[in-house]
Amino acid sequence: MKISYHGHSVVKVEANGKTILFDPFISDNGNTDLDADTVEADVILLTHGHNDHVGDTFDIAKRTDAQIVAPFELATYLGNKGLNAHPMYIGGGHEFDFGHVKFTQAFHGSSYTEEDGTIVYTGMPTGILLTIDGKTIYHAGDTGLFSDMKLIGERNDIDLAFLPIGDNFTMGPDDALTAAEWLKAKQVVPIHYNTFDLINQDGEGYAKKVRPGKGAALEPGESIEL
Ligand code: NI
Ligand code: MN
Repeated sequence: MKISYHGHSVVKVEANGKTILFDPFISDNGNTDLDADTVEADVILLTHGHNDHVGDTFDIAKRTDAQIVAPFELATYLGNKGLNAHPMYIGGGHEFDFGHVKFTQAFHGSSYTEEDGTIVYTGMPTGILLTIDGKTIYHAGDTGLFSDMKLIGERNDIDLAFLPIGDNFTMGPDDALTAAEWLKAKQVVPIHYNTFDLINQDGEGYAKKVRPGKGAALEPGESIEL
């Protein structure tokens, strides 16, 4: 399977003949190679309601008829807007036709800001474990470091972890190094950095400090084969 990074927290998984997009923040993302008008998606997985994660979900889902999977309140909000959204929550797993999804905790916020500035509550923020074709991918969403990452690492054989390193809103590189250690992921890719000045970080520097050969800083459009 092919897993590609597209800037900020956008990750695309192509496996089992399906295209799965995590947090498709594209048209307002100055650091992506994707085009929201043409990107393909069978499934959109959302970690939380912030606009830099929901991103172009409305337009992409309407065009592609993609199945959205999101935390309950966010899924309800999207469902009320006419989208097909499957609600899930922290600790819950579900077997879909494309693979198995389990939601994990994240320490962050979750709300969606509408065009007129109204802030809509969208529940708890999450991380997502996607198991597909025998491989497990962990997308941490936006989160600070939390010690139950040890538990997530003990209970899941993580092949690839996407961890935020931008600091300010999420873990910075030092905490994300500890996260990488605790999760025992076979490969770690940093996300949620270099999109805005406030979250500029040295992705390559971070990747080199993860256990030797286990870290990879991907440029938007670069991919990993699992
Ligand atoms: Ni966020
Ligand atoms: Mn974010």
